[in-house]
Amino acid sequence: MERYKNYIGGEWVDPAGGEYFEDRNPADTRELIGLFPKSSREDVDKAVAAAREAYRKWRLVPPPKRAEILYRVAQRLVELKEVIARDMTRENGKILEETRGDVQEAIDMGFFIAGEGRRLHGYTTTSELPDKMAFCIRVPIGVAVVITAWNFPMAVPSWKIFPALVCGNTVIFKPSEETPLTAHHFVKVFEECGLPPGVLNLVHGLGPEAGQALCEHPGTDILAFTGSTEVGRQVAEIGARGYKRVSLEMGGKNPIIIMDDADLDLAVQGCIWGAFGTSGQRCTAASRLIVHKAVYKPFLEAFVERAKALRVGNGLDPQTQMGPIINEAQLRKVEHYVELGKQEGARLMCGGYRLTEGDLKYGYFYAPTVFADVHPSMQIAQDEIFGPVVCVIPFGTLDEAIEIANGVRYGLSSAIYTRDVRNAMVAIRELQAGITYINAPSIGAEIHLPFGGVKQTGNGHREGGIQVLDIFSEWKAVYIDYSGRLQRAQIDTDRLVQLGD
Ligand code: UN1
Repeated sequence: MERYKNYIGGEWVDPAGGEYFEDRNPADTRELIGLFPKSSREDVDKAVAAAREAYRKWRLVPPPKRAEILYRVAQRLVELKEVIARDMTRENGKILEETRGDVQEAIDMGFFIAGEGRRLHGYTTTSELPDKMAFCIRVPIGVAVVITAWNFPMAVPSWKIFPALVCGNTVIFKPSEETPLTAHHFVKVFEECGLPPGVLNLVHGLGPEAGQALCEHPGTDILAFTGSTEVGRQVAEIGARGYKRVSLEMGGKNPIIIMDDADLDLAVQGCIWGAFGTSGQRCTAASRLIVHKAVYKPFLEAFVERAKALRVGNGLDPQTQMGPIINEAQLRKVEHYVELGKQEGARLMCGGYRLTEGDLKYGYFYAPTVFADVHPSMQIAQDEIFGPVVCVIPFGTLDEAIEIANGVRYGLSSAIYTRDVRNAMVAIRELQAGITYINAPSIGAEIHLPFGGVKQTGNGHREGGIQVLDIFSEWKAVYIDYSGRLQRAQIDTDRLVQLGD
């Protein structure tokens, strides 16, 4: 069985403590994919030292030159897309179509951010004093820690790593222990494309060990985290103690509103994709379908029929439409919420059980599950379940639908199906979320627009779009006084509007 290594200072190295964890296929746990380093504080110390050392030079490499390497990485990923997607399906479970999309999202991000190497725009502006000019520029911050979840093992790291590097920071990447192989492939491509040693380091391991040590280390400056709201809070607390830049992408409980004037076929299709794509394991997944009473019955019937018909299985099989849940703990969490939903009095329309026929018993498969007549205050309608479980909630007016949609602690994605432009515009204005879709489901954000959420989903930062650069750079204001005399802002300005002498 292959023992994979960490990548520190340009070398592939074993973990100091000699301990490893297993990477297994969630569709068939008999398949052991590899052993990966269970890194400790000692490994983290080495990675931080390497990243700090490399930062001294990397920050001085002209951004267009940094970007050329990133461009090559994106190009190489195009060639490796199929190979990486297959391995990603093996360790993550999601279907091949989706793992190809995951790699594609990283490719898109690479090309997009490579372009920023020749922009990284600041602006020039006027000065209130004569013979003085003013402008502002982006400067790098230092060493960025990138900690990411397993559900988008390449796309989400790419949202952080590419912009961190183009801005001139160095990076230590701690991927999820559920998807270390994808991280390994990703980092190898950077090495192959000529990224200098120490600029990107890979430290495998567990959150409470390697992850926490990286966040606490005085030698790290940026903590860029994607994961649960609970762990995000811990990252923020540690970051605050160390005066670090902290960017958080956390949970969601994303609503889709279906109005009485919606194209119902389109809405059903969109809701199936939004709720059960990636087995519902997206932070953008549609977990609440808020449906107008006038179309509630026909919508529910058609939606449940399609949910029941979904083919669940191994993601490598082209016939499969939905893969497994990532691990046993997540499966238990889904089971817990399904029991809770029944106790709370929601009406179970389909699913609600683990799938175990034939080889499915070797994986963590769960039937697509629909609860109807859900009250917005039920716990299944409030908590992020992160699995193939969706709540259908009836409403009477758009105001009511918006109140239900906003009545949770999260605010990442949202959507409305309507043919009425007024409904759409009111939804855009009122929905408390970082993303609103009109006539499309809550999943499927594109990398060149800002991605992130409000309330307990985030802490004000956005990944994607040029907005991501604000996570990974600091603004510097520059004033150049060429008057040759002392000029005092706010004080010497009174005499400046005397014309004619
Ligand atoms: C995530 O679930 O963490 O918008 C990211 C989407 C994808 C990204 C999801 N492009 O659904």
